[in-house]
Amino acid sequence: MNHAIPENAERRAALVAEVRAHTGLDEAAIQAFLRRFYGAAREDALLGPSFAGVANWEGHIARLTAFWCSVALVAGAYHGQPLQAHAPLALRPDHFARWLELFERTARLCFAPAGAEHLLERARRIARSIEMGLTPLPLRRTEGETVT
Ligand code: HEM
Repeated sequence: MNHAIPENAERRAALVAEVRAHTGLDEAAIQAFLRRFYGAAREDALLGPSFAGVANWEGHIARLTAFWCSVALVAGAYHGQPLQAHAPLALRPDHFARWLELFERTARLCFAPAGAEHLLERARRIARSIEMGLTPLPLRRTEGETVT
């Protein structure tokens, strides 16, 4: 009897192949999409100013490609801290709404529906978690309490 669980790398490769077949997404397509998305985000009246401090766009695109390959293809070596990266930007709910609107519009231009939905589902979930993570919870703080 062979109950052996396949090697991790093998299982991962099978999963990636399945996602790719289902969504049509791969690293090159994701990177091309991100160039288009950030091209639009930089030009956007609301989002643009937040990106003014990005000194190295190629580095940003490379990091974001790794991030989205990790998230969407289960394959990629992203080891950053998205929440901390956004903390200094003073983002408000309207920034997130606009970010998602642009992300959706660009995804629908770049991918077939299955690929766009695959990315959008994840983008909405992560955007919500970053937004919640950045939102202070003043009701939990009481006078004299030390917030760590
Ligand atoms: C709400 C509007 C947003 C703005 C204005 C914004 C802007 C930025 C900026 C300025 C950086 C730092 C870039 C650099 O200095 O190289 C950054 C990093 C990043 N952003 Fe956003 N962002 C937004 C929302 C999001 C969302 C919703 C996601 C994910 C779904 C996301 C994912 C990331 C990631 C993964 C990084 C890299 C973090 C790291 O590893 O350093 N961002 N973003």
